[in-house]
Amino acid sequence: MSYFEPDADLLAASDAALASVNVSRLLPAATTFEVHDPATEEVIGNLPNHTPDDALVALSKADAAGKEWAKTSPRRRSDVLHAVYAKLIEHKDTLAYVISREMGKPLAEGYAEVQYSADYVRWFAEEALRAQGLYRDSPAGDATILVRRGPIGNAVLIAPWNFPMAMATRKIAPALAAGCACVVKPAALTPLTTVVVLDLMIQAGVPEDLVQVITTTNSPGFSSTLLADQRVRKISFTGSTPVGSTLMALAAQNIVKSSMELGGNAPLLVFDDADIDRAVEGAILAKMRNGGQTCVAANRMFVQNGIADAFVEKFTAAMAAHKLGNAMNKDVTLGPVIDDRAVKRLQLLVDDAVAKGATLLTGGKSPDRKGHYFEPTVLDNVPANADIMTTEIFGPVAAITRFSTQAEVIEKANDTEFGLAAFVFTQDLDRAINVAEALETGMVGINNGLLSNIAAPFGGVKASGTGREGGAEGLDEYQEIRYFTMKRRETE
Ligand code: SIN
Repeated sequence: MSYFEPDADLLAASDAALASVNVSRLLPAATTFEVHDPATEEVIGNLPNHTPDDALVALSKADAAGKEWAKTSPRRRSDVLHAVYAKLIEHKDTLAYVISREMGKPLAEGYAEVQYSADYVRWFAEEALRAQGLYRDSPAGDATILVRRGPIGNAVLIAPWNFPMAMATRKIAPALAAGCACVVKPAALTPLTTVVVLDLMIQAGVPEDLVQVITTTNSPGFSSTLLADQRVRKISFTGSTPVGSTLMALAAQNIVKSSMELGGNAPLLVFDDADIDRAVEGAILAKMRNGGQTCVAANRMFVQNGIADAFVEKFTAAMAAHKLGNAMNKDVTLGPVIDDRAVKRLQLLVDDAVAKGATLLTGGKSPDRKGHYFEPTVLDNVPANADIMTTEIFGPVAAITRFSTQAEVIEKANDTEFGLAAFVFTQDLDRAINVAEALETGMVGINNGLLSNIAAPFGGVKASGTGREGGAEGLDEYQEIRYFTMKRRETE
């Protein structure tokens, strides 16, 4: 498969964006760590490597600023978030370049992420005004009940590397809208974007100290130290199920409210009655957005026997048509995966599936060159005992298997501890609803390969997590509900 080199002008512009990253908003630290471009393995940044003690300093600053912020009006919080939205959009070029250089996604996807991220900020600017309580009469009519929603308190926000901007703003924006302060830890693989976002937030009017960003390679030290501190009242994490489970145990010490957006193993079901072109288009989106590195990516593709050959042919052609290369080439549609560990994991999964009887239709290996690349890959007739059927792939590899009946495929789709996302392609409205109801996942895309939407409650069931991000529900996660009751007495 051919490889697309970077365009000189985009490379120069992105170098300038990286050089402009302002680290002066961060706390100082005794040591630093390097950030690498996954496309070339070159060092593209150096950031303070904060210690757990630094994280406590950050918490103290956030706590003090948060006490003032909690007293602000919803209108003020909304206005500040609207100003942040405008500032992020004003600097969309810088943000897109930094995202794409540190994470590797093609520049068009970098721009799409900037808009998606900024849209969360605008959404929560609007939701800030609608954080309503309620007034209720007691059933006996002898008391009045007032239900009030207030900020839950200091939030610890741990973001993943795959959407370095969107996953940060999806957490920071509702925290600020609700009146909370936060300490944010971006992934050590992709921390630069969050540093840019912090700078722009402060420029837009977010009080200094209210949002603290801790950049560190010591994630366990960061989490265990902050979650042992009683000033922390909320944790939101996006990442793997084992880490989420550890964080929930740490959060349990001080009964800290947890939102966990964890691993997935999304089934994608294509029924004989599907519109084949729509199904292929949706499956490509569900599989290949962000190079397959999303927790909602279609992990197991089940295709009904009557449509299977035609679907597999068209889907494989669309996979093979991807242009693999450096994110700084405008024609590239598939960048590198995040690191060398990911390349090795993908290779093991592909080799294991083939050894157990799967047919390799395209791709299947890492090109022999520098950078963490893996070819777009399609495996057909993947047996149930292949590791890929139970492992989150997180890369550009599609695993297809075939089925006969609706009942059979629902049983197979649900045969996993995960329950984040699923996709159904059918033109039969009854089937669409019946299957969506039967699938044990927090989200179902019906003839739609894109689940992500600022207005929707994003999140999973079973081992895929708890809590929701986005939608009106995303704000609830940062609120504490209290109620006041007043006894009534007749007066003259
Ligand atoms: C994720 O992969 O964690 C989130 C993806 C999204 O918001 O679309």
